[in-house]
Amino acid sequence: MSVTRLHTTSVTAEGFELQLSADGRLRHLLTMRGLDRERIGELLDQSQAFVTSPGEPVARSDALRGKTVANLFFEPSTRTRASFDLAAKRLGADVLNLDVNTSSRKKGESILDMIYTLQAMRVDVFVVRDAEAGVPGFIARHVNEFVSILNAGESDVSHPTQALLDLLTIRQRKGRIEGLKVAIVGDIAHSRVARSASEALVTMGVGELRLVSPPALSPAAGTVPAEARILNRLDDGIRDADVVMALRIQRERIGNLDGIPGIDEYFASYGISHERMKLAAPGAIVMHPGPMNRGIEIESSLADSPCSVITQQVANGVAVRMAILSTVTQTLDNQRR
Ligand code: CP
Repeated sequence: MSVTRLHTTSVTAEGFELQLSADGRLRHLLTMRGLDRERIGELLDQSQAFVTSPGEPVARSDALRGKTVANLFFEPSTRTRASFDLAAKRLGADVLNLDVNTSSRKKGESILDMIYTLQAMRVDVFVVRDAEAGVPGFIARHVNEFVSILNAGESDVSHPTQALLDLLTIRQRKGRIEGLKVAIVGDIAHSRVARSASEALVTMGVGELRLVSPPALSPAAGTVPAEARILNRLDDGIRDADVVMALRIQRERIGNLDGIPGIDEYFASYGISHERMKLAAPGAIVMHPGPMNRGIEIESSLADSPCSVITQQVANGVAVRMAILSTVTQTLDNQRR
């Protein structure tokens, strides 16, 4: 894929200063950085209102009637893309799922010209996933005042809606976030999920945040909150943890695999298994953002066991994205008044 280089720098490129409108409402969602506890709590409450149980009719409203949402995914996705699509449709929006592989960006059109083209067709919300750091913030700086940008996964930097669905799931299962011991295990160095979850968990007062990885996949200095404990031994991370989140190794972001354990060695040292979970706190839950590699970062039967909340995370993804779409389009409506 050809991507216009933006010459942005990782982890400082999210544009958190752009997220709020002049009167303090959420207009873009680019990062969890800069969102305070009260705002995250409100977003979780709004998301909870869209949660329904299997067998019940799904939540629907007309909140986005007359609005257009464009999904622009320049990296693969199943969960995020499908849930933004469903969320927008269940709120009554027109939805454009642009096939980026057949778009004119392939003929050399810049991402901004593509955005300006779709903006002229009156797209209100762009949902953007891109392999390059800084793309959502870059677009947010250039769209007109009646358009919102939602970050659906930015390189290894940020995945804010994933963080919100993770927090919602933890809150549902543990009743709170404050004071919990949370272990995030795997490729921390290349994980936007770990970064956004860490930022949000610290803001919400997590008791202890442990980031566990092989030494070659430890986070670079300054890329995760200072409150996090950086660990390289799984047993140290998982002991007494209330929440254990397994992550995939992001092979697509790793140029040189030297120092990274092979599959069998990885599972033996860092795989989350029934045996390993005996060290965790009673009632501990197991999470995974997906896509998951069974038998590598997580024992397959554990992923399907009662302590696994992986399908609940997926279900909450639709509710969170409905809440975010409702919130930012209300901000756009307020700007029109
Ligand atoms: N968790 C997540 O972002 O999954 P997808 O890559 O399938 O969207």
